[in-house]
Amino acid sequence: MSSAFAYRSSIFHAEAVPVPRIAEAYGTPFYCYARAELHRAYDDLASALQECGALICFAVKANGNLSIIRSFAERGAGADVVSVGELHRALAAGVPPEKIIFSGVGKTRAEIDAALATGIYQFNAESIPELEVLNAAGATLGRKIPLALRVNPDVDPRTHAKISTGRKATKFGIAVEQTGQALAAVQQLPQLDLCGIAMHIGSQLTAIQPFDEAFGVMAALVAEWRAAGHDIRRLDLGGGIGIRYAEETPPTPAAYAALVKKHFSGLKLQIAVEPGRFLTGNAGILVSRVIYAKRGGAKNFLILDAAMNDLMRPAMYDSWHDIVPVQAMPGSAVEHWDVVGPVCETSDLFGQDRALPALQSGDLVAFMGAGAYGASMASTYNARVLIQEIMADGDLFSLIRRPVNIEEQIAWDTDPVWVR
Ligand code: LLP
Repeated sequence: MSSAFAYRSSIFHAEAVPVPRIAEAYGTPFYCYARAELHRAYDDLASALQECGALICFAVKANGNLSIIRSFAERGAGADVVSVGELHRALAAGVPPEKIIFSGVGKTRAEIDAALATGIYQFNAESIPELEVLNAAGATLGRKIPLALRVNPDVDPRTHAKISTGRKATKFGIAVEQTGQALAAVQQLPQLDLCGIAMHIGSQLTAIQPFDEAFGVMAALVAEWRAAGHDIRRLDLGGGIGIRYAEETPPTPAAYAALVKKHFSGLKLQIAVEPGRFLTGNAGILVSRVIYAKRGGAKNFLILDAAMNDLMRPAMYDSWHDIVPVQAMPGSAVEHWDVVGPVCETSDLFGQDRALPALQSGDLVAFMGAGAYGASMASTYNARVLIQEIMADGDLFSLIRRPVNIEEQIAWDTDPVWVR
């Protein structure tokens, strides 16, 4: 649990703001971020990587809120985007285009055109057909494409299967044995400036060995490609550094940086990394109110006003988030609760048999480690409000995304105007 969120006189606070004060002002549920914690995470990583001169490109998919992106941009961060929508968010938050990397297996021509027009730092290509589209886009605009090839090093990242990307059998990157073919294709495509190599083997990595293994593959490929006459000047190591949700002991920024040095120092490469979760995960909580405490039957259920549409991770990855009462109840007997939302699915389950005090209707709870892939994966399923976001800064707090209510959502729909 990060120090930005802690009890003060039995009341859970976000920085110096009592969480119930925010609930009073804006209602529940909401995400709440601690600005100082965002900065702390960024500064930890930036100082560890300083010697390597690495550019930190925040993976916008982890949290696309403009205030979040801006909190890194103002410290010099770039952005890693995977859609034109994320590109626009990064630009709107003030990230300079020359610090933006466009990743993703399925960039459309329209997305490539839009990104090229802004003058982004680099495209990370993941297939041979994509190289042809990039080349065509470059030819139309009369521009050279700053290109890195994302290689799939076939390394097991030892994380949840649904967030593993480093194995050959996944859709990501170009297999090592296909890189010769990709290099040959590049040579035929005059608009491509192959300047880099990229990797991303998965998310929430808690062991350092998979990074070690994959970095080894990258270093060997840099040497091989250079020997073949390619001017490889850039290296993109992707994201993936895990955070502590429960008992994990993820690699520290210092250990990660030491590994980068071990493999790449002296190679004269401009290094980029694309962390998402590490920067925002522990800087955010989800706050929700108990609607009903339903006792008896086989189990006790704590039915909250937040649901799987607000925080998808438990339903999707069986992920663990600590759940804490906002008002500490030290004298209360501990009970065991299945913590659920109101959505009509059995998977709308945040945690089973959680040891929590005797909570009642109206009590507030907070989900820890909700700052990454929480709000950014939220939806309006069950015609629920698209969740609001708040930022705390010292004893101040502010809405940073208003809730999208049902009137607004109904207005998204149009009556049919039939055509043939
Ligand atoms: N770079 C690329 C190319 C990526 O695909 C990703 C994440 C990142 C960087 C950032 O990875 P991070 O540093 O956050 O681990 N929704 C899942 C996580 C999906 C990650 C997808 N790619 C979750 O909630 O756990």
